[in-house]
Amino acid sequence: MKKEIEYTTTTDSTHIKEYGQYFTNYNVAKFMAAWVSTDAKKLLDPAAGNSVFLKYAKVFNPDCSLFGYEIDPHILNFFGNPSNASLRNEDYLMTGWEEKYDAIICNPPYNRFQAIANRTEIIKLIEKYTGIRYSRYTNLYILFLLKSLHQLSEKGKLAYIIPTEFLNSKYGIPIKEKLVNEELLRAIINFKNDQDMFFNATTTCCILLIDKEKKSDVQFYNLDSISQLSDVNLRNASGCYSVPYKDLSPEKKWLEYIRQEQASEYCNLKQISEFCKITRGIATGANDFFCLSKSKIAIHNLPDTVIDECICRSADVKRNIFTHEDFVKLADADKTVFLLNIKSTDNIAIKEYITNGEEKELNKKYLLSCRNPWYSMEQKPIAPIWVSSACRNKIRFIRNIAGVKSLTTFHSIFINQSYKDEIDIIFCYFLTPIAQKIIRQNRKVLGNGLEKFQPNDIKTAKMLDITVLSDEDKKRIINIYHMMLDEPNDSYIESLNEIFEKYLCA
Ligand SMILES: C[S@@+](CC[C@H](N)C(=O)[O-])C[C@H]1O[C@@H](n2cnc3c(N)ncnc32)[C@H](O)[C@@H]1O
Repeated sequence: MKKEIEYTTTTDSTHIKEYGQYFTNYNVAKFMAAWVSTDAKKLLDPAAGNSVFLKYAKVFNPDCSLFGYEIDPHILNFFGNPSNASLRNEDYLMTGWEEKYDAIICNPPYNRFQAIANRTEIIKLIEKYTGIRYSRYTNLYILFLLKSLHQLSEKGKLAYIIPTEFLNSKYGIPIKEKLVNEELLRAIINFKNDQDMFFNATTTCCILLIDKEKKSDVQFYNLDSISQLSDVNLRNASGCYSVPYKDLSPEKKWLEYIRQEQASEYCNLKQISEFCKITRGIATGANDFFCLSKSKIAIHNLPDTVIDECICRSADVKRNIFTHEDFVKLADADKTVFLLNIKSTDNIAIKEYITNGEEKELNKKYLLSCRNPWYSMEQKPIAPIWVSSACRNKIRFIRNIAGVKSLTTFHSIFINQSYKDEIDIIFCYFLTPIAQKIIRQNRKVLGNGLEKFQPNDIKTAKMLDITVLSDEDKKRIINIYHMMLDEPNDSYIESLNEIFEKYLCA
């Protein structure tokens, strides 16, 4: 990886990010190239970069004609054309839709589609050739995959390495539909530990192996390390979890298959959305500008009328129940717990502060340029319960009795009207290990072990149907809640767990 190290250290990091230039581990590239290239006459890498896949393909099948696309002349000049492939310095998505290949192998750029200038044209081409009308917000790698599937010859094989998130995400559903309807998917190989997958990035990823042969099921592998790739045997399907095509639903979260977690054994479960509404917290678009401490407010002489109380960092909230006293302590310690919420500019200090932001060109930042005026703040109701949007060991649920706002560091939980009186019971339920175990079945795990939850992941996860609780147990739960208010103590959570477990494991 000497050349890749040199490239990464000599190239501007924004350039690397803009083009999604993250290099596949050689052993992973070798495995993918070996699988696709045997028997192929024409092989394509749509995002060649350092040509790692093309180099290995040449080793495994020297007679195969190699083709590649690479949009960035800088990376092409740096790595050259070590496999003597026919390399085109062009945007893969814009040309060559009618050309077919027996093998396609790719680590596509993972950029969000919003960052792509010609996205409307690309969407039109995708629709023209595949008949699928994609959302303008689909990630670039899905569009690469769609085009490659379209270009695969009748006996073709395709290997892609892409983020695991698509298995559980809404935007992954149309592509999963295509893979299932056309019985294209041979196997998905996930890596539990993604640290070593790319030389210069940490992200979740899995290998998709696709071919057009007839098959009855899809093999899901969940490997501990890259070295286990040598044990993967697609012919006898050992060491994997096989799911028959007839049981595969595109709407289902496929991470379950990867983790081989079967439908929960628990009883009395309902979808969380039955009891709660989950939305994301406030996105400022420029925290440095909009998030304030007492001293910063004083320096800029900003009036109270434009200041809201708001939690900007989840680390500032230490306890499960966040009170007004907790808030005052943070404010007095000069923590950043205020949010600028300008509704009118009839004050000289506010005008100056806005001009300050414009001098820093904040008004040109993507999110802020979409707002009118750019400094206006999202108006969202204050949530009575927060849940952390990312976690490592346990999901943090916080009862917000301080009545303050929160940024996206927490998602907001609102209790549906019919269950408003049960708010503290629902909150107590979420604190328990058994509730968290059930919710975690809907999680996405990022490369560094961080678990991420989108509001939709929480909404569609399961929870205890709290209507089954006896009045006596409800009273016990509320008593425990009041004791927690006075004195936080983990033993209370154990007592709560015992109560709820009784109903879940009945
Ligand atoms: C994730 S890197 C993969 C590099 C190499 N194949 C590997 O796996 O190590 C993706 C490459 O695609 C290139 N790229 C980005 N957008 C592209 C596009 N629209 N058409 C062709 N290449 C593109 C990037 O410049 C980058 O070199």
